[in-house]
Amino acid sequence: MKLQIGITEAHLKNSISILSAILANEMTLYIKLRKFHWNVSGQSFMELHKLFEGQYTQLEVSIDETAERISKLGGKTIGTMKEFSELTIIKESPNQYPAQKEMLKELLEDHETVIVQLRKDVDVCADENKDAGTADFLTGLMQDHETMAWALRRYLE
Ligand SMILES: [Fe+2]
Repeated sequence: MKLQIGITEAHLKNSISILSAILANEMTLYIKLRKFHWNVSGQSFMELHKLFEGQYTQLEVSIDETAERISKLGGKTIGTMKEFSELTIIKESPNQYPAQKEMLKELLEDHETVIVQLRKDVDVCADENKDAGTADFLTGLMQDHETMAWALRRYLE
């Protein structure tokens, strides 16, 4: 069914592809947080084990909201590992098991990468796509990542 919400079809398509790329980034970061949750060891084991769990639990909510926003805009939501790995800008490191500090650094960099991308996406959705709803959603998501990045940064300072 065609959407009648005051956004052109081309703009809807653009917002959907932006959201799909974000979904891929969130999924990759989610998987990495899981991996680090499972493999962290050392002096602050339980602290970081719980910190990473808290962050992937939060991402789980964002992932679902992102996926459903695609659907609300009339798009089909991607849902395969292949599509996620093709679209993501977050780097994975198979067979690598970094030490605690390196895990924190890598996750901080990933959140910052996501924040920089979201900041651009917010402007494109608001200014080009005239899609205030998605711009607002992405602004909230960016703030969530800013908070998660802040927590990680505190461990490294
Ligand atoms: Fe667990």
